[in-house]
Amino acid sequence: MNLTVIGTGYVGLVSGVCFSDLGNRVTCVDNVPQKIEMLKKGEVPIYEPGLKELIDKNTEESRLSFTTDLSAAVKEAEIIIIAVGTPQSENGEADLRYIDQAAKEIAAAMNGYKIIMTKSTVPVGTNERIRNLISGITNHSFDIVSVPEFLREGSAVRDTFNPDRIVIGTERKAAAEKIISLHTPLTDNIFVTDIRSAEMIKYASNAFLATKISFINEIANICEKVGADVDLVAQGMGYDKRIGPSFLSAGIGYGGSCFPKDTKALIQIAGNVEYDFKLLRSVVEVNQMQRFGVIDKLLDSLGTIQNRTIGIWGLAFKPNTDDVREAPSLEIVSALLELGATVKIYDPIATNNFLNVLNHPYIIRCDSALDASRDCDAICLLTDWQEFKEVDLDQIGDAMRLPIMIDGRNTYTLKDMATKKFLYYSVGRPLIKHTHEQALEYQNVNIG
Ligand code: UGA
Repeated sequence: MNLTVIGTGYVGLVSGVCFSDLGNRVTCVDNVPQKIEMLKKGEVPIYEPGLKELIDKNTEESRLSFTTDLSAAVKEAEIIIIAVGTPQSENGEADLRYIDQAAKEIAAAMNGYKIIMTKSTVPVGTNERIRNLISGITNHSFDIVSVPEFLREGSAVRDTFNPDRIVIGTERKAAAEKIISLHTPLTDNIFVTDIRSAEMIKYASNAFLATKISFINEIANICEKVGADVDLVAQGMGYDKRIGPSFLSAGIGYGGSCFPKDTKALIQIAGNVEYDFKLLRSVVEVNQMQRFGVIDKLLDSLGTIQNRTIGIWGLAFKPNTDDVREAPSLEIVSALLELGATVKIYDPIATNNFLNVLNHPYIIRCDSALDASRDCDAICLLTDWQEFKEVDLDQIGDAMRLPIMIDGRNTYTLKDMATKKFLYYSVGRPLIKHTHEQALEYQNVNIG
């Protein structure tokens, strides 16, 4: 099939590239010329494992191309995929300006029947808005199909090729059949429904996963007070098939470009029909508070943060991405600076993006986890990169002024940490003090 994808962000680029790898002819369109120039040269504007290899292969085999010429790309395509951003506006609502712009430009370029497939995360009713916008501009016939995207950053290629399900929202049987055949190579689990329900499935899914995370984080906070271990609690809960083991990792809360934005947008969608989504408001509030547990633990161990040197391991909102949008690291580092600390930061790939958002004379950029630990009073692990699981913790402890670690992602087992020389705080698990003498020593530290 001939496809045109509008928007080369995570969703657009990854799905366009993967559809081309399935044998379709795909043109990816973006209105930022620098991005298109990069892609044409085989440079990938986002970090996503496996993506570059697929771009190189499918460009070489002439199934994949990149352009800023939306009009020409629309004319050539049978199916046009809208994958532009829907950022958060000031009141939490999704900002639909890029959707509107794409719809108008598609309409102006149409030269015959097209299927318009929306992959962007859009509030209920948006696909109807797209339909109205287009039919107000062109007399050509078209169908609208909502196909929400469920890929995750960092595993986007794998997720696209192995989806749990494909949701297709449309009122038109013929359009549904065409979109089903586009997705059949990926899975048999294709759920066809009406457009409004498809739009809602996306928000409800993200909100439910965010709820699972805030739920386990609150359980973790209680575990700390009652002496239970949240990892064991989550494991025991997860054996119940009705609950399942995934998205029960306690930590410093969710970040990224999706959960924070989509939870707030769903609260707003509910508010627009005068429904107070109390549960989801609490999920957002718990998530916001959770990251500051790191600061509480630093204060507990150090007494004061003023004039301390704190190492930060991991800046990205999760591993395998250089994305720092809504990353807990941003707020944690800001709070540390405000409290008078010098902050040494290290991330395998996200440091440039982090410094573009937050820079300060008291932030020191480091090239390794060891470098970010030297002479520190404590280190805070904020992103559970594999690399941190493999460091030599004895060497790290020796390099620090005080061997204190606040592990915001429960990266190490308590058993392993029991053999290390750290005062080790994690989330929802018992504090580890290396020896009785050391515990006393640390208590002496806690005088500011
Ligand atoms: C999320 C959804 O998982 C995707 O299905 C969806 O397509 C995407 O949003 C989107 O709407 O575009 P993503 O934001 O890439 O994907 O990342 P996740 O892997 O879901 O992680 C989100 C955040 O939750 C991260 O900060 C992660 O550290 C945190 N998390 C995740 C936890 O704190 N605990 C967990 O158990 C799982």
